Amino acid sequence: MINLIVGGILSLPGLLLHVVTAPVIALLSAPAMIFLVYSKPKQAKKALSTDPSLKRVIVTGGSSGIGKSIAVAAAKQGIAEVVIIARNKERLEEAKKEITQANSSIVVKALSVDVERPESLAEAAKEIFTKDPTPPKTTHLFCCAGAAYPQYFQDIPPEEFSKAVHTNQLGSIFTAQAFVPLMTSGSVTFCSSGAGQIGVFGLASYSPTKFALRGYAECLHIELCESPIYVQVAYPPDTDTPGFAEENKTKPYETKKISEMAGLAKPEDIGGSMLKEALKENPPFNVYFGLEGWLVTTLTCGFQPVSTVLDAMAQVSVMSVTRWISLFVLNDWYNMIRTYKRGKANNVSSKHD
Ligand SMILES: NC(=O)c1ccc[n+]([C@@H]2O[C@H](COP(=O)([O-])OP(=O)(O)OC[C@H]3O[C@@H](n4cnc5c(N)ncnc54)[C@H](OP(=O)(O)O)[C@@H]3O)[C@@H](O)[C@H]2O)c1
Repeated sequence: MINLIVGGILSLPGLLLHVVTAPVIALLSAPAMIFLVYSKPKQAKKALSTDPSLKRVIVTGGSSGIGKSIAVAAAKQGIAEVVIIARNKERLEEAKKEITQANSSIVVKALSVDVERPESLAEAAKEIFTKDPTPPKTTHLFCCAGAAYPQYFQDIPPEEFSKAVHTNQLGSIFTAQAFVPLMTSGSVTFCSSGAGQIGVFGLASYSPTKFALRGYAECLHIELCESPIYVQVAYPPDTDTPGFAEENKTKPYETKKISEMAGLAKPEDIGGSMLKEALKENPPFNVYFGLEGWLVTTLTCGFQPVSTVLDAMAQVSVMSVTRWISLFVLNDWYNMIRTYKRGKANNVSSKHD
């Protein structure tokens, strides 16, 4: 606590100066930002159709949690065709029923596919795209299949690192490779995580695979910048899903504490927002949630494409303030970890006394 108070007092003059200069920088940079944002490749001017009857939504990991919420929200919006992909057939059928109950007038398909197998994904893509007798639809693809295994670094078995890379990272990339070439227009959303922007304690096998998705998305975005297919990365916070309940079984104390600071979102809120961002005429590259999500995304924007003039102005004017805030948060985590370690050490020594 004392660190935070001293740090806060020492930071005041610099922060106050920023409060004065940030709006000036934002205003002075506005004309340049407007020019840069609107002179992007012509894709930016080719808005996507917003008619749900001309759309198809495909969700990997669509039988549970965030993925299922996207599929249910799509059905409620009257999207013509909703396709969910996962491995377990029973859970797929249950999810299909739930989606159909949300809207019985649309087409709902459930395909049992392992996203780690490119050949199975290629077959699924062929089935969805070539067996469709109706005119081509704008396709919104969500790569949500994924899982985390929280544990202390030294306690993670090597096979868990491999599994995380195969499911979270390669699974999403193989999905995009199978579907994007068949898409005529639409969007691809990679479901990263808040832990794909910050290396989180206890998530050493998971965080890096979610960081990687951002790299793939940046590459794909630049390759598709002249095409009517938009690329997105979503960074959901902790969300109350079956996957999250599973994670909690192995989560170290420190990981739980860090995660408690950010609260727990509802899957329908996260899925609903992800769908809303993808269905925009010009879907933004980054999909973040709440003020914290905005702060971290602004801080870590680097060379990412920018979607709105406001985002560009915020990035050039307040990035140093977000860095300031991040150092305080990091300090808070160090303190929590130190206190827990000392508490554990004291417990052990008092047992030996
Ligand atoms: N919940 C959170 O707090 C949170 C936060 C940030 C990001 N995320 C990310 O959001 C995504 C969804 O998470 P969730 O919490 O909703 O998970 P969940 O409830 O466990 O659902 C995971 C889904 O992925 C499918 N899946 C897993 N491995 C697969 C594979 N190899 N091939 C095909 N499908 C596979 C699962 O079905 P089968 O097992 O039947 O295949 C299931 O449908 C994940 O990528 C996760 O990393 C979650």
